[in-house]
Amino acid sequence: MGRTVPARPPRAPVTPGLNATNDAALPSPNGKPRRRQDDGWLDRWALTVSDLTRLTNTHPMMDAIVEEQRGRRIRIGDRWLADFASCNYLGFDLDEEIIASVPEYLAKWGTHPSWSRLLGNPRMYPEIEEQMTELLHAPDVLVLPTITHIHTSVIPVLVGDGTIFLDGRAHKTMYDGAMYAAGHGASIVRFRHNDPEHLAELLDDAMYPSPRVIAMDGVNSMTGNAPDLAAFSRLATEHHCLLYVDDAHGFGLIGERAPDEACDYGTSGNSVFRHLGVSYDDAVLVAGFSKSYSSLLAFMSLTTPLKDALKVLAPPYLYSGPSPVASLATTLAGLEVNRRRGDLVRLDVWRKTERVLDAMRDLGIHTPNTSGHPIIEIPLANHAEIDEVGRYLFEHGIYVTMAAYPLAPKSEVGFRIQVTAANADDEIEELIAVLTSLKERFQLEQLHPATA
Ligand SMILES: Cc1ncc(COP(=O)(O)O)c(C=O)c1O
Repeated sequence: MGRTVPARPPRAPVTPGLNATNDAALPSPNGKPRRRQDDGWLDRWALTVSDLTRLTNTHPMMDAIVEEQRGRRIRIGDRWLADFASCNYLGFDLDEEIIASVPEYLAKWGTHPSWSRLLGNPRMYPEIEEQMTELLHAPDVLVLPTITHIHTSVIPVLVGDGTIFLDGRAHKTMYDGAMYAAGHGASIVRFRHNDPEHLAELLDDAMYPSPRVIAMDGVNSMTGNAPDLAAFSRLATEHHCLLYVDDAHGFGLIGERAPDEACDYGTSGNSVFRHLGVSYDDAVLVAGFSKSYSSLLAFMSLTTPLKDALKVLAPPYLYSGPSPVASLATTLAGLEVNRRRGDLVRLDVWRKTERVLDAMRDLGIHTPNTSGHPIIEIPLANHAEIDEVGRYLFEHGIYVTMAAYPLAPKSEVGFRIQVTAANADDEIEELIAVLTSLKERFQLEQLHPATA
């Protein structure tokens, strides 16, 4: 059920303890108005993301409290819904074998040894890094708690006072890492999304200082499509740049190709470089375990000298609390399950995703997804309908990710379906039935003739 929130007053009320201090009555020390006095600063922030603020305050599919879950069915209030907003693509969050692996590690290590990595590494860390180096066929691997930690701490080290060439639609966390680097003296240059020709023009311009880093996504978190990584890799080598790729959504799902592969995702789930046959020379791959492996941990592929340098240069290695023991345990168990039956799980995700994509083709509903990846974005022809469309889905028992502005550009506002191995076939059929009736009531983008 949606929460109704009283209409906001035009100005933020003064909240004791936040901005109403006794000091506020005193003259400001520098003669300027006190920044946090009753000046509406929080409302101004809220205004910059007003669509999202409104939906977050009023929409049942935003900021929801999930009371319980059974498989991929979740209960919000008194309503049960099929969850298509989960990024646990392989269903490892619900895998009995992986869940059963945790208590043994907790008994050995407690819940949380709390050392930063520099202070002490439970043995699980080198084990994960060794297994990941083997899985990725990378020179070496470094793990840190999250991708966000990696972007904000590693991009500034890689670029120094040089230039970051940032894809125009790079994930916000990478953008934030670039901004952090800019604070340390780097320049940021944006290139058109997925456009190696535009990037080549910019790289030809000698006015952008070195070192140079090209930063972009692997499998895109909205479209589900991968870039032409080989073209970007060639540019990186020709122009003496480092290619920095965030494949949060590809890792675990897509992997190296094999003649006997069961589906188009390839095998092993060892990420976009191996999937597209692109070398790690002049490149760093960043991804996480928090989607496909359902564990709070992230990693980067890199050379051993860079890894050694980051151990003393990247603040999360030196200072941040570590991932919980349960997450290190589920990462190790997930790697084991991946070796034994990962390809079967991927086949299952692929089959369920194909069923949804086929049905959408039959219905004439457009999605930018051309890859068959289980991220299916459905843009609305009229973005003002986002609120009602979301309510319709919710009331018909389907939970999705709302892609409201600024999570998506205004022209692409809509919703995103994620299919996971843990979604049962009857949930997939329910989804298709609801999409069928949704299309009768709302203006979805029509299938483009080229993809029809
Ligand atoms: C492409 C991409 N990068 C980074 C992140 C953030 O990852 P983490 O939670 O590990 O910081 C996300 C999360 O949605 C993502 O989609």
